[in-house]
Amino acid sequence: SHIPVITIDGPTASGKGTVAHKVADKLGFHLLDSGALYRLTALQALRRGTPLTDEHALAKLAEHLHIHFSGDAIFLSNENVSDAIRAEEVGNTASKIAALPPVRQALYGLQLSFRKAPGLVADGRDMGTVIFPHAQLKVFLTASVEARADRRYKQLIGKGISANMDDLLMDLRARDDRDTHRAIAPLVPAEGAHVLDTSNMTVETAVEQVLGWYAAAG
Ligand code: C5P
Repeated sequence: SHIPVITIDGPTASGKGTVAHKVADKLGFHLLDSGALYRLTALQALRRGTPLTDEHALAKLAEHLHIHFSGDAIFLSNENVSDAIRAEEVGNTASKIAALPPVRQALYGLQLSFRKAPGLVADGRDMGTVIFPHAQLKVFLTASVEARADRRYKQLIGKGISANMDDLLMDLRARDDRDTHRAIAPLVPAEGAHVLDTSNMTVETAVEQVLGWYAAAG
């Protein structure tokens, strides 16, 4: 279609969310934080006590999410869950249920519906490989596990949440392993993706790089 899409995929805590947000702002594009959809499904499952082995019940939850976005806030059935979905437990549960094909299938159409004029920046794991394979620009944003753990640590401490570096490293490695080695929509750079390692890069530099690639691609 003629509505441009920029996909930004990468591992957890690579900074892709922040970069996607800023790129979307600069271009006046819509934003799809696809990880939030898996997190919302996970939050519902945790609250309802849905067994993480019941893939059909989980897919039903995903299919019937009553979500809406208002500015930077995410609402689930009128409750602002912006902070709740960022909890480590929710992220870990999201990464488990994201390995289930019926859950991914249930969220497919919802993700496509974010593509609206004048354009979309979509961030996640499979935006360039599965959801928007014909995107105008595909970026794979990565950073060393140490750099990512360090960022996560500072974020948590900044919010007044206690954090342990060894636990964070262990969690990131476990989540990377699950996201990279799962059978369905594994985390890999899409064909034709530009790879950007942000380990020693500021957010601003990463944003400029993506905008430069987009200008060159358009
Ligand atoms: O990006 P974020 O950390 O919010 O994503 C939470 C989890 O959702 C990831 O660990 C990943 O397993 C899953 N996810 C996915 N596909 C996406 C986005 C997120 O499988 N497009």
